Amino acid sequence: MTTIKLHDKTFDTYLSAEIIQEKVIEMAASLNNDYKGKRPLFIAILNGSFMFAADLFKHLTIDAEICFIKLASYRGMKSTGHVITAIGLDHDLFGRDVVIVEDIVDTGKTLHNFLPQLHHQQPASFKIVTLLHKAEATVFPLPIDYVGFIIPDKFVVGYGLDYDGLGRNLKEIYQLSANA
Ligand code: IMP
Repeated sequence: MTTIKLHDKTFDTYLSAEIIQEKVIEMAASLNNDYKGKRPLFIAILNGSFMFAADLFKHLTIDAEICFIKLASYRGMKSTGHVITAIGLDHDLFGRDVVIVEDIVDTGKTLHNFLPQLHHQQPASFKIVTLLHKAEATVFPLPIDYVGFIIPDKFVVGYGLDYDGLGRNLKEIYQLSANA
């Protein structure tokens, strides 16, 4: 087990780069199958999903488009609950098969606040894919169609996810140490 330090906290390895990549390939295969003959629009939620979205997209063999939007800033170790659209949605979603790409769904609040805006544009279909899901932390239940890993309600970093700005570059996912 590798332990790293980010700011004042220590984190232990949780999911290896290999396990993550295997899962990404598996999820892309499901999407390739489910969207055969269609041209879905993937909407990746910044910042955290950039790495997952890039890896997932590399393994898509269907015709697919992607755009990136920013909905929320997550500061420190608690969700702020403030949803801010800093980078807007420049695609018309009417009649499109939309796939939201998240790095992690924690309480569900971020997506919950965004869904009405999405539905307002009347996409033909709408699905959510997330690499990580803290199922036991759910406050706002969401229809999540593709989940990579269901994880305990513990703070994680790496593979796009940060702790106060650090850790996004890590290839692995780390979990807050028990004694941190
Ligand atoms: P939710 O709105 O509570 O579902 O939180 C979603 C957002 O909070 C994610 O997109 C992340 O940016 C952030 N987040 C939630 N849990 C973690 C974590 O364990 N590590 C890093 N960021 C997290």
